[in-house]
Order: sequence, then structure tokens, then C-alpha cells
Amino acid sequence: MYILVTGGAGYIGSHTVVELINHGYKVVIADNLYNSSFDAVARIEFIVKQHVPFFNVDIRDKEQLSKIFETYEISSVIHFAALKAVGESTKIPLKYYDNNVNGTIKLLEVMDQYNVKNIVFSSSATVYGDVTRFGDNSMIPIPEHCPNDPTNPYGKTKYVIENILHDVYNSDNKWKTAILRYFNPIGAHPSGLIGEDPLGIPQNLLPYLAQVAIGRRDKLSIFGNDYNSHDGTPIRDYIHVIDLAKGHIAALEYLHNLQNDQGLFREWNLGSGKGSTVFDVYHAFCKVVGRELPHEVVGRRDGDVLDLTANPKRANEELKWKTHLTIDDACKDLWKWTVDNPSGYNIDNYSWKALSANDLSNRSHTIKVDDTFKVSIMNLGATIQNVTYKDAPVALGFVTEQEYKNQSFYIGATVGRYANRISEAEKLKLSVNENGNTLHGGKFGFDKKDFLGPVVKRNKKENSTTLEFYLLDPHLENGFPGDLGTLVKYTIASGSIEIEYESELLGKADETFLNLTNHSYWNISTGSSIDGTKIKMATNKALEVDSKSLLPTGKIVDREVTGFAKGSAGIDTCFVLEQQSVQSVDTRSNELQTVLEATHPDSKVKLVVQTTEPSFQLYTADHLDVPGKFGPRGGFCVESGRYIDAINQESWKKSVILPKGETYGSKTKYAFESV
Ligand code: NAD
Ligand code: WQD
Repeated sequence: MYILVTGGAGYIGSHTVVELINHGYKVVIADNLYNSSFDAVARIEFIVKQHVPFFNVDIRDKEQLSKIFETYEISSVIHFAALKAVGESTKIPLKYYDNNVNGTIKLLEVMDQYNVKNIVFSSSATVYGDVTRFGDNSMIPIPEHCPNDPTNPYGKTKYVIENILHDVYNSDNKWKTAILRYFNPIGAHPSGLIGEDPLGIPQNLLPYLAQVAIGRRDKLSIFGNDYNSHDGTPIRDYIHVIDLAKGHIAALEYLHNLQNDQGLFREWNLGSGKGSTVFDVYHAFCKVVGRELPHEVVGRRDGDVLDLTANPKRANEELKWKTHLTIDDACKDLWKWTVDNPSGYNIDNYSWKALSANDLSNRSHTIKVDDTFKVSIMNLGATIQNVTYKDAPVALGFVTEQEYKNQSFYIGATVGRYANRISEAEKLKLSVNENGNTLHGGKFGFDKKDFLGPVVKRNKKENSTTLEFYLLDPHLENGFPGDLGTLVKYTIASGSIEIEYESELLGKADETFLNLTNHSYWNISTGSSIDGTKIKMATNKALEVDSKSLLPTGKIVDREVTGFAKGSAGIDTCFVLEQQSVQSVDTRSNELQTVLEATHPDSKVKLVVQTTEPSFQLYTADHLDVPGKFGPRGGFCVESGRYIDAINQESWKKSVILPKGETYGSKTKYAFESV
């Protein structure tokens, strides 16, 4: 059974989805991305290390909404989807009523049709209106029985929806309805991967202050210091978004624990019960940032009131929920989110496109560094799909996902769990090919897997962009022992792609073995063949292999390569850098060493390959054959990694064995320049 989360790509929704999954729930997200980005969903998946089904639908579209209920068995709905800007709602009230109220009606109709009658609804403290109207402080902190009197169209939509839900419950007592009235949610996920990313000028205090701190806004305006508080600024009940997200789990569990036929309509305040002034929050955030942030006290903002502090007793007692995190925690997490993502989910030079209409989890991600260099990488196989240097393609790649699925040449793909050959694979209980070997990780290798992510970040100082993909490869996949988590990080800068691998054994075995590489076919000529490419190598030492089995004899021999002349013999050889140890499972502390330079006299393009790895397979693709697309000698591969079949050679073995608690790692860089 799944929990449907409407608005799950948004600020509070995304944090709640993470908490739901951490608590063992299965989740489907429905969001029209009106005020959010699919990158938030990719990052949710990255945090929880699993795929989360996502539907790009408007909740007012009953037909599309029904498809979700047809596809997944939904037990309950957490309903976040709404427009939420108070000021905007006074300008375009009809849009607010249509989206929020009409949207909820459609959602309830579809839920009813599929007999799903559990709902947790995002309401707001704004339904209480100005509680100072009672004059005697009898309603501060605010209890749930405080009469409602919202003062703006946004608040009124929440008030109307609460009433609709009440009427629905009155008409059919099977409905179990939790109304959660949030106070002021702040903060972000401590990973810094998800957070609040307001469109345009932020209206709320902390998002605005964060943008001042990161240099996007000049100064904070403090709206009035003549209120009756300890420092003259208004009092609010700020609550960390993670605590708020957990409140949804508590409410959901409360509903699930009711007897089957026992319905419910009940409101709960989600707040800390502690009020803080604008200056309290301002000082807490400045402390985290480490400096006084520019600010100015200006006149009061229309509609602001002195005090909105929750009385959270009902939620504390009934839901067994209370806040645990402080304003300081929220400021720290908000600052990490801001520093790591100074423009939120929006990254300069980055765009993506979906590779299949209904599934945004497999996309092609393009970084256009500048006019000379553009790289596209896809989720399938964390594959390098396109590289263009000075408007000419320098790597082989396809357009559609199907083309990748139809071929067996690992074009551009991440190769794992074990690049190159493993002999006597049967003994190791691996899936074997016709020669009794395992090649490039077997039938369901990394090249066939949809990686999660990417998390895309921009490093302005270095003028680079990083894309991080993640794959959790399960125990015994292709016979390999242990659950293996692998991070593939691409750093794209002007003219260069650096690839970093990092793997960890997550369970089900005490050790495993692996060898990761990238299988891009480079072609820096002006035509469809690599003929004429000149090569300069940092080594002429190569592993001798048996001509039949292609497996190493254990001997190192001399082999010189200076280029790929037309008609010359093909190369498929593992070159070794003897100065690099073959004892280390994580080579990332080694310097990146130049191992090969390729140039082509026609294009005058040079490719420089650097790696921290002890060896690389140089392959001239003499067997490449994709009809109508790529033929023999259409590209060459420089596959950095560990020695071929190291797992079966006593003296090389250590480099491919990953014990639990240790980390596998490597770095390789491909850089292009004009000569
Ligand atoms: P948000 O804008 O970040 O998230 C709302 C999400 O709903 C967005 O991803 C948006 O794209 C989506 N959405 C909007 N209309 C939709 C539609 N018709 N169909 C499908 N998706 C749609 O806002 P948030 O801060 O995460 O707020 C979530 C909920 O909590 C809202 O209902 C809001 O009113 C309520 N709330 C928020 C606050 C606050 O201060 N953030 C306080 C109290 C209550
Ligand atoms: C907090 C305090 C401002 C910005 C709003 C909605 C409410 C709920 C939560 C959805 C106030 C002061 C702010 C600035 C400032 N949302 N401030 N300078 O108004 O308490 O609540 O968000 O349901 O419905 O109304 O939150 O963050 O806007 O303001 O001095 O630039 O910060 O005056 O005292 P608010 P907020």
C-alpha cells in the first residue's frame, strides 16, 4: 500500500516524503511542478536511495489523478498541493480558490471513487486570523478551539477546505481526516540536498535572510519594531521542517490505528509552543553565518499581527508528537542548503530532458559549460551520452533510450560491478558468458541500470558543475555478493570531464569485489573513423594475455603504441603504470597522472587522459558494429581501472576486494584542447 503525497515536490512535501520513506512507507508523489522542480524529486531519491514514483499531474485533472489510483494501491493521502503566497492571493483570489479548493474537491472525488478515505491535510495557523482580537490573551498560545477568522484569500481557502472535509466526514463517517495547522516552518534537510526554493522575491523571513547572506539581496527589511514584545518585533512559532514532516507521520499513524469503521475529523496544531521574535531569529541566523547581516527596520507589513504561537498540547498528547529541533538547528540546516545551492534547484548552464514521456526518472542532463564544450549524461548507466568540443562530437552516443538498450557495446556507460574480464567466473558464482568468463559485470551490469539523481551543483569559483548519480546494486545481482552502493560523480569544467567513483558495501556480505570504469568511445578525428589518431603513452608496459582466453598470464611485457594508422592491427591491451600500487582499493589519494594523449592532425584536437588508477585498457573498437550508426574503428576507449582479472591473481587481488566498512574509489579525467 502506498501513501499518495500531493505537492510532494514542494518544500514541506519533499521533506515529508523523505521521512515517510525513512519510516518504511511506500510513497507516490503527484505534483504539477508549478512551484517546484523535478530536481527536488531526484534529490529525494538520492537521499532515500530508492526510486520514488512521480506523476506530473495537476490535482484538478481527475482523469490523470485516477491513473495514479489505478496504478498504485493507495491507502492514504497527504495533501500538500496548494498555492500559498498570502500577498499574491489578494491579487488573484480566483486562482487560489480554483487551485486550492477546486483541486481538493477533485482529489476527494477521486479518493471517494477508489474508496480511499484517509487524508492528512496541510492547513495553516492562518485560519485563526488575528488572535489578538480577543484582547485578553486568552487565545495565546493558540488552541485548536480558537475561532477561525482568516484575513486573506489564501487563509480562506484553507478555512473553506477544512469545512468541506468536515462536511464530507459528516456525510460519511468512514472518512478519517487529520487537519494539521502548521505554524511557521523553517530550515532544510540536514544533508543540504533539499530545502525551500522560493520563486522570485522571498516573502518569508528566513528565505529572505538567507538570500541576503548569500549575496542575492542587499538587506533584510524588518517590518516594524513597535510591537509589544521584548524587542518590539512580532512573535511567531518557528518549527523545523523535519519536525513538521514527522508530525505527518504521527498523524498518519494515528489514523491508521483507528478501528477500520471508526471515522474521524480532528484538527491539530503543529508548532513548538515557543514564540520567537524577528530579532531572535535574525540573531540566530547571523550567528550561524558568522557575521551581522545588513538589515533595516521599516514600517509594519499589512496584515501582520503581534503573536502567533501554537498551543501544541493536543498534538503532544494525542499524536505523541512534539518538536525536537531548535531554531539554531533550523538556521544551521538552512545555511548549509543555501551555501550548497546558492540559487536553489536552479543551476546555470544546466538543462535536462525526459527520455520517456511518462517517467522523469530517466533523463538526459546537459551541461553547456561555454561555447566550446557541452556534455550530456543520462541516468541509464550514468552514461556519457554526448560530448561536443568546438561544435564537433568527440564521443559516440545515441539519442534515444531504446538505442542504448538495443546495443551491447557499453557506449559511454559506467561499467560495473566488474569492468573487464573475470576468469573462472563460475567458481565465483557469477553469471558467465559463452567463454566461461564474466565480462563488464554480466548481463545486468551497471550499464543497464537507472542511476538515481543526479544531484547537480555549480561551483562558481572553479567554473565547474558536478552531477552525482547513485546506484544501489542488490546482493547477488549477476552473482556478486553484497548490497553495493555506488556514487558516480562527474565534474564538468571547460573542456574537461572528471569521473569519480566511490562504492561502499552496505550489507549482506563481509566483502565483495569490484572494478569500475567508463566505457566512452572517443573520436577526435573529423570523420567516422579514428584512423590517423596519434597517441603518446606514459607507459609501454602491458599485461600479457593468453591469445585465446584474453586473460592475463601474470607477465608484464613491452608494447609500444604511437597511433592508430589506417590498416594497422587493432589494440585491446591493458597498460600498466608500474609506479602505481596494485594494493589499494581506493586510489583517490594518488595524483591524477597523465597516461595517454591522443591528437588528430585533421581536427587539431587533443584528448588528455589522466587517472589515479594503476592501469587502463586501450581498445580500438575493431568489433564495434551498430548498423547505420557506428562501425569498426569508430572510436577508441581508454578504460582506467584495476588489472584485468585481478580477483584471480594473488598479487593484484587486494586492489579489487572491498571489505565492509572500507571505501572503493578512483578518479579519471578526460580533457580536450586545441593544438
Ligand atoms: P510549496 O509551494 O513548496 O509546495 C506545494 C506544492 O504543490 C508545489 O510543489 C506545487 O508545485 C504543488 N502544487 C500546487 N498546486 C498544484 C496542483 N493544482 N496540482 C498539483 N500540484 C500542485 O509549498 P509548501 O511550503 O511546501 O506548502 C505545502 C502545503 O503546506 C501547502 O498546502 C501550504 O498551504 C501549506 N502551508 C505552508 C506553510 C509555509 O509556511 N510553508 C505554512 C502553513 C501551511
Ligand atoms: C514572519 C515574521 C514578519 C519577512 C506566513 C503566512 C502564514 C504561513 C506562514 C502558510 C513576521 C517578519 C518577514 C521580511 C520581516 N504560511 N518579516 N521581514 O507572516 O508569520 O506567516 O507564513 O500558511 O499563513 O502568513 O511569516 O515569514 O512572512 O514573517 O520582518 O522580509 O517576519 O513581519 O513578523 P508569517 P513570514
